[in-house]
Amino acid sequence: MHEMIEKITALQPVVWNNPKKKTAHSVLADFSVKMEDIVDAERRLQRFAPLIYKYFPETGDGIIESPFQELPEMKANLEKNHSKTIKGKLYGKCDNQLKIAGSIKARGGIYEVLKFAESIALENHWITLEDNYEVLGEEKYRERFSQYKIAVGSTGNLGLSIGIISATLGFEVTVHMSRDAKQWKKDLLREKGAKVIEYTEDYGKAVEEGRKACLGDEKAHFIDDENSRDLFLGYSVAALRLKKDLEGKNITVDEKNPLRVYLPCGVGGAPGGIAFGLKTIFKDAVQCYYVEPTHAPCMLLGLITGKKEKLHIGDYGIDNITEADGLAVGRPSKMVSDLSENLLDGGYTLEDETLLGLMKMLYSTEKIKIEPSAAAGLLGPVKWEDTKETTHIAWLTGGDLIPEEAFRKLLDK
Ligand SMILES: Cc1ncc(COP(=O)(O)O)c(C=O)c1O
Repeated sequence: MHEMIEKITALQPVVWNNPKKKTAHSVLADFSVKMEDIVDAERRLQRFAPLIYKYFPETGDGIIESPFQELPEMKANLEKNHSKTIKGKLYGKCDNQLKIAGSIKARGGIYEVLKFAESIALENHWITLEDNYEVLGEEKYRERFSQYKIAVGSTGNLGLSIGIISATLGFEVTVHMSRDAKQWKKDLLREKGAKVIEYTEDYGKAVEEGRKACLGDEKAHFIDDENSRDLFLGYSVAALRLKKDLEGKNITVDEKNPLRVYLPCGVGGAPGGIAFGLKTIFKDAVQCYYVEPTHAPCMLLGLITGKKEKLHIGDYGIDNITEADGLAVGRPSKMVSDLSENLLDGGYTLEDETLLGLMKMLYSTEKIKIEPSAAAGLLGPVKWEDTKETTHIAWLTGGDLIPEEAFRKLLDK
């Protein structure tokens, strides 16, 4: 353990297998969130589908979901570059193409805002659970929603998803952006009608200020990326959707045909919610790995040291400065650290240069445009030796909304 901590502190890439891992069944039996909660979240998203479709017809049916596709050229290039044979196929879950916000944050962020909107509408008897929620798009309801405030702290993508959906529904929304947030994300949010407050400090400060701004205001809802159960549930619905994707491609998942999922990790909400959903469905036939930049390994370090959310990478002299803006987080989520302690299979870290290389390789092999954070999972298939035919999934967490010029600059880098 000491050797691993030394390597992490020296900013060297590491691969970690969780020595505290227990069976999915034993961990999930003690966890407060259950399969019924995931199903409840999915039903809520279905109730909102008519309203989402009204505002965002590009979703096709009002359900925000991403493609799932095989990446054969990428796999061949990884094998060549690493002089290694990858057993099984490599797939991408293309959340970079999620409509509305262009990232994995469209799952949890949008879900929590919709849940807040629904609770207001039900409490005030504007609708019943059986009604067509499209009515909530009428001007009179938008005006009523405008009396409520929503706030969030973000490194960029969570702010984008929450800012866009909140402003669309009529809420007064403020996004507290950390120093990492890219200019184009802030510009886009302002254009959509969100208020953006910028900080020169990291994500922790943006969250703290957002939380403070909502204190004592009954009509204000702070979306707490470090602790929110609703965000977590919104992400976990992805597991039900992935199950359908796998069935659609006749991919079997069982003990003989394991699934390995590589999830880019910031504070942990998104990868934690998805890992929870996948373990709930596939139990020990799925192996989940979190991936972080060498300059922002808060979840890994928190789990290895056992300090979890009490740890800040700054205490270890790690600067939290990375091209992977979505992963630039210094302190991990308590809820996700607690869950992952015995549930997660492992993780790895990688350097910014590698992230950029993977991003470029995916673009040149498969013509898929992702942001650096989203490339983190692509190295997973060469990190472990597989003995069985394995389905590898790199979760491609964001990138579609990057302006062309900014993307070109990243490719040049
Ligand atoms: C593109 C992208 N990938 C992954 C993540 C990680 O999600 P989380 O911070 O919930 O761990 C983020 C977070 O903003 C992101 O923007």
